[in-house]
Amino acid sequence: MRRNLVVGNWKMHGSSASIDQLLCGLQQQLTTVCSEQVDIAVCPPAVFISQVSKQLAGSIVACGAQNASDQQEGAYTGEVSATMLAELGCQYVIVGHSERRSLYAESDAGIAAKFIAVQSQGLTPILCVGESLIQREAGETLTLIEQQIKAVVDVAGIDAMARAVIAYEPIWAIGTGKTASPEQAQQVHAHIRQVLAADDPAVAEGIQLLYGGSVKANNAAELFGQQDIDGALVGGASLKAEDFTAICLAAIN
Ligand code: 13P
Repeated sequence: MRRNLVVGNWKMHGSSASIDQLLCGLQQQLTTVCSEQVDIAVCPPAVFISQVSKQLAGSIVACGAQNASDQQEGAYTGEVSATMLAELGCQYVIVGHSERRSLYAESDAGIAAKFIAVQSQGLTPILCVGESLIQREAGETLTLIEQQIKAVVDVAGIDAMARAVIAYEPIWAIGTGKTASPEQAQQVHAHIRQVLAADDPAVAEGIQLLYGGSVKANNAAELFGQQDIDGALVGGASLKAEDFTAICLAAIN
């Protein structure tokens, strides 16, 4: 049986002091969550990874990053490499979040390069895919998701998916309070597994598929109850220890 994974994406929020407070809250409240039952990670802004990683050492919560360069070293002003993230103790890296695709013009090809760079350092990429409202209303959701996944599989190979996580995040549900219904999310997750199964059924069966987009304490359990939903990528609700803990508790299976 697949384990559930709950990942907090803190986006560009927090200060050293507020993060310290959030982590203390999480560590107190998550003592009831057994690491045997659910995987948990948080992805702080890059400048706070070192602090978070040290504070989480020995805890059941892993540290991740929100982005990484497609290059390992060199004259790339402002970039952070997967090598550096690995040195800081990261285990996961979010790749291809819709905010990076839309606000920073990240292409499918560029995202595939980042995915490969992240895996080359032994880190687990969390590949984000998702459609806009216009694309959903035009009936393009499944085709688009398939394209976004194939853009990576074609370059990295299907075996690489055995060492990755995929997060389905419909853009219209991110930060809007408008969650996809469990049925809408399940339909896309099942499709993702089907797309991967065409290349390798075992990889399709083993991969953790997360849902993201306005996941809250009051809707998490219903989402996690779906057959192909193996956890969540949480934005806003991951900034409050109580809310994030409640979502992690709902993910125990
Ligand atoms: P919200 O949970 O705030 O909708 O954000 C989702 C998200 O973008 C996580 O990566």
